[in-house]
Amino acid sequence: MTQEFNKIGSVNGELALPGDKSISHRAVIFSCMAEGISEIENLSNGEDVRSTLKCFSELGVTSKWEKDKLIIEGKGFKNFNAPVNNLDAGNSGTTARLLTGFLSAQPFESTLIGDESLSQRPMKRVIEPLSLMGAKFSATPKLTLPLTVHPSEKLIPITYEMPVASAQVKSSLLLAGLHLEQETCVIEAEQTRNHTEVMLGLKFEEKEGKRFIYSSLKNYPSSQNYFVPSDISSAAFFIVLTLLAKNSEVILRHVSLNETRTGVISVLKEMGANIEITNNQTSNNELYGDLIVRSSELHSIEISKEIIPNIIDEIPVLSAASVIGIGKFEIRNASELRVKESDRISALVHNYKILGLHVEEFPDGFSVSGTVQNENPIFESFHDHRIAMAFAILSMFLKNGGNISNFDCVKISNPQFLEQVKSLTK
Ligand code: S3P
Repeated sequence: MTQEFNKIGSVNGELALPGDKSISHRAVIFSCMAEGISEIENLSNGEDVRSTLKCFSELGVTSKWEKDKLIIEGKGFKNFNAPVNNLDAGNSGTTARLLTGFLSAQPFESTLIGDESLSQRPMKRVIEPLSLMGAKFSATPKLTLPLTVHPSEKLIPITYEMPVASAQVKSSLLLAGLHLEQETCVIEAEQTRNHTEVMLGLKFEEKEGKRFIYSSLKNYPSSQNYFVPSDISSAAFFIVLTLLAKNSEVILRHVSLNETRTGVISVLKEMGANIEITNNQTSNNELYGDLIVRSSELHSIEISKEIIPNIIDEIPVLSAASVIGIGKFEIRNASELRVKESDRISALVHNYKILGLHVEEFPDGFSVSGTVQNENPIFESFHDHRIAMAFAILSMFLKNGGNISNFDCVKISNPQFLEQVKSLTK
């Protein structure tokens, strides 16, 4: 489906977006692992979190919706059923990586599969360290999905320093570690999102500029109730929409303010954005609050290497904010963008070239500048939800608007994106 977006005037109103995708995955996984009933409020309604839940239903977990809450009856420690069918992670890297760690500790064989995009994404980053723990796998020659996880005699705890800044790798190892008496330690040189350790209350230390995070059986989750704060990565599209529009003010309710995710707010504020944070609260150790966003004049800044893991999912929309608001954008040190739902560097470069802008591609980033030459652009989503939504926002500031191909991929993180845009633009 190709979706058209027209030029907009101002945006005004208020949104209470569904739960953060990363926190939702973890709330589901921990609830399924715990013994007994857990309730999750404001769960993400995207396909990715549905994929996690579907995998666990294949392992014997039952769940039902009661009004707006998902009620999960968790299986408890190693009580899962051996799956009859493959576990389908769909488009979700988080499902695939986190479940690989969890499945490594189970006494049965299981096979993880995924869609075309996920089947090309690297699994070596979890296969390698989990193999050091004694996990057994059969994968494709490129170490991608489908991936069969064999039962292993006994896992051993390891201390592992991650060569890539990845919360998915960290969480995968910590999840495997939850099944062992002795501590598993993951070391990260660059801080990545910390939902796993925060929500499980794991021990961590900071030494010589690195973070050491520990998990063991004593941290195995128990049943509890969760409130999932709204997704800051989904909110980012509406923050940028409001900042770029004239005479606009939008309130975004109970947005996740976890400090490992708020880089997008810091970067935008440094660029001159008027974003006010009020009503701070906490649930399941996760901070959230309301954002009041107002039209702003943006100016150019340099994005530092250290903040990249914190803003990794927001780079597409940050680039759109800069291209429209300032007329140029540059990012380096972001080669991880090449192994997301699409190769996001190529995807962004492709779409900015469609506008006739001057674009340079680097192995770890790109730069874009110049004035729009094409007044009737048709952008390619590359079946990547964040590329689709970034160019939807950008299109709303072009003279004749713009079109985005294969727009239905937004269902991965935010199926209601179009309705939400409409509610602010009417
Ligand atoms: C996620 C971690 C990030 C992020 C992804 C969700 C998570 O990936 O891009 O959308 O929930 O742990 P990496 O940890 O691989 O960078």
